[in-house]
Amino acid sequence: MNRERKFRLGLLGSGKGSNFVAIADACADGKIPADVAIVLSDVAEAGILERARERKISAQHIPPGEFRTKLDETAERAYIDALQKAAVDLVVLAGFMRILKGEFLRTFAQRVVNIHPALLPAFPSLEAWKQALDYGVKVTGCTVHFVDQGVDTGAIIAQQTVPILSDDTAESLHARIQLAEHELYPTVVAGLARGEIEVRGRRVIWRKV
Ligand code: GRF
Repeated sequence: MNRERKFRLGLLGSGKGSNFVAIADACADGKIPADVAIVLSDVAEAGILERARERKISAQHIPPGEFRTKLDETAERAYIDALQKAAVDLVVLAGFMRILKGEFLRTFAQRVVNIHPALLPAFPSLEAWKQALDYGVKVTGCTVHFVDQGVDTGAIIAQQTVPILSDDTAESLHARIQLAEHELYPTVVAGLARGEIEVRGRRVIWRKV
């Protein structure tokens, strides 16, 4: 890796952008040795775009095209082009509600990460905190993982546990999980930016270099 050049992040999100804020603040504080080069969203009014613009970070809405759960071919190409133009080293999904497949994952092989609000492989897919609460588990948490062709099936990089309390509602539990996300995600992105994380098939090993 060229040590002169700072590691560059591209963030994709569809929602309020609290994980973006945690990561952007950690970059600004020097806790992550990287810059957020670009933020992209499939939702024009998403908070994540607003939060990025407030920080003078390039932020673009790219419409997802004709499908409900994924990007169509034209949109996928536009996302790839924008990320390549911004010369990103790592694509960080922060609440991006579209499944990424094929060409996108081939272009950024082993360079796309996601955060999921449960301890995978338990409770994949949508509203994972609610699934955990309804199931009755006493501990849940969040997982940062590489993105592969499946839904929340990629190799796990790190997890943080969160207790489920007897008076929890879906909202209170989700809020507690998000606090854990805001610690875990910047820590993992920093490890990736420093080149400390090695992938051996499904096993991801964290080496302090
Ligand atoms: C997070 O809870 C994350 O686990 C899930 O989407 C949510 C995004 O929240 N993948 P925010 O937009 O970062 O606040």
